[in-house]
Amino acid sequence: MSDQNPIDPRLEQAGASDESLLAAHEKLLGKKPEDGAHYKMLPLVLLFVFSGLIFYAGTYLNHFAGHYDATIFNENAHPSTGAAPGAKIDPMVLGKKNYDQVCTTCHQATGLGVAGNYPPLAGSEWVNGSEERVIRIVLYGLKGRVTVKGTEFNAAAMPAFGKVAGSGYNWTDERIAAVLTYVRASFGNTSPAISADKVAEIHGKEGDRKEWSQEELLKIP
Ligand code: HEC
Repeated sequence: MSDQNPIDPRLEQAGASDESLLAAHEKLLGKKPEDGAHYKMLPLVLLFVFSGLIFYAGTYLNHFAGHYDATIFNENAHPSTGAAPGAKIDPMVLGKKNYDQVCTTCHQATGLGVAGNYPPLAGSEWVNGSEERVIRIVLYGLKGRVTVKGTEFNAAAMPAFGKVAGSGYNWTDERIAAVLTYVRASFGNTSPAISADKVAEIHGKEGDRKEWSQEELLKIP
């Protein structure tokens, strides 16, 4: 207790003034830091170059990507002459692509649906029957009880796919015609194709409306 050490040399610094510390450091460094010593022109230039490239790419895609619509993309098109003549999109190819992307979630890849929830498209009287009805179902959606192949479904709703108010999909009439053409010729179905003109005609006639019920549809021939 009595043999107190002289002041620890490490603590001596605590007694030093700010000025003396700064002076000591300056001496060690040999010179004062220059203003702007860490400022380099190159990163700034690169920042502008890359911002410019991103802006250019965005503008380019906005103009020429056709909003990534499968019906607009045409690999035979020429930049100056436009769409190559005769380069028609096969509705079966476009239809299958759209079916596999969206409809398959509920109606399944087999077109058999899910018992109790999603009705089958394979062998369905709605798919293979009046095109007036099936077009309306996909354009505007369907809600409430529906009987398919003798079984009643009422668990979920069929969403609207057309360019109609409240639709999350906004598919063109051509795209709807293609998916219906595909569905009517797949899963064992052998019904004729549906034209984009027919979809456009019904779309024009019905305008904006909410989803259909089975009762309303059955009144349409
Ligand atoms: C979110 C799930 C879901 C998706 C996605 C969906 N449907 Fe449906 N669909 C249903 C439900 C549920 C019904 C039955 C609605 C009812 O009970 O009123 C139905 C009914 C139908 C019907 C009439 C009944 C039948 O089985 O024939 C057709 C036709 C049809 N859908 C076609 C399609 C097509 C084509 C697509 C893709 C463009 C599609 N659906 C995407 C859920 C879906």
